[in-house]
Amino acid sequence: MRKIPIILDGDPGHDDAIAWVLANASPMLDIRAVTTCCGNQTIEKTTYNALRICTLIGLNAPFAKGRKGPLVAEPIIAPTVHGESGLDGPKLPEPAFAPSGLDAVTLMAKVLKESEEPVTLVPTGPLTNIAALLAAHPELKSKIAHISLMGGGIDFGNWTPAAEFNILVDPEAAKMVFESGIPITMAGLDVTEKALVYPEDFERIRAVGNPVAKVVAEWLEFFYGFHRSKGYPGAPVHDAVAVAALIKPEILTMRKLYVAVETEGDYCKGATIADRFGVTGQAPNTNVILDIDREAFVQLLVEAAEHYSEEVQA
Ligand code: BDR
Ligand code: CA
Repeated sequence: MRKIPIILDGDPGHDDAIAWVLANASPMLDIRAVTTCCGNQTIEKTTYNALRICTLIGLNAPFAKGRKGPLVAEPIIAPTVHGESGLDGPKLPEPAFAPSGLDAVTLMAKVLKESEEPVTLVPTGPLTNIAALLAAHPELKSKIAHISLMGGGIDFGNWTPAAEFNILVDPEAAKMVFESGIPITMAGLDVTEKALVYPEDFERIRAVGNPVAKVVAEWLEFFYGFHRSKGYPGAPVHDAVAVAALIKPEILTMRKLYVAVETEGDYCKGATIADRFGVTGQAPNTNVILDIDREAFVQLLVEAAEHYSEEVQA
């Protein structure tokens, strides 16, 4: 089987971490690099978390730290959701390696240049690094096959009534990405709020019994704590949907639409606006994921947990 070459870019974050557990377990994906961005926490904290996740799951791809802040806006962080560390909950191993000396954009550009085939980007945080890459290396656009991202939502927001966190943190970057002409699959809140993992599912994952499975169950428990207080019946594992779109698209319902990003406004800054009725005359630029087979998604997470053997460090 020909693997899909990918770069993981995220701000871990519990759901980023679970997305990476899923990606690293899949025989369909070839992870060529891991890069970090600021979002859920500062770049120092998300980078430290990312190193600990990679150490835990044995993800040995080239690794680089991203930019300190969004392109234009001031950083926004989410300690209410992910804790002060950005990844509160279970104890994790200390990093077994350090980031490469390259910054995220330079590493991504190197991977794209060296790849014989176009590479898919999987951003699960604000789109700062991806936009900076497109700005610095327009010649590499043709080396990007596809961007499967978590962000936005065409019906509602979560950080403001109109805007989802990842897009709100760096709307200028998101605008550049959505206007890039590169095929985009958008795992936005429309679907990710349905990608719920219930407490009984945590137990199925915990029962897999290996160290990674146990940590994933504890991440889910921590992440659910915030959502339970808001009335959710489970934890919405947003970022893992961007990976599921690559390895199990048949469990998702998608619709091709033109999506624009609002960068200004008192109420709508950071909103992703979809042209459902074709009124703009613009060709669709985004595969918007609208629905998910929740049970199949949970099964995918259970199978990913089963992939990790007892030898992986915990
Ligand atoms: C997104 O925001 C972050 O808190 C999560 O990691 C996810 O990427 C959901 O809005
Ligand atoms: Ca994230």
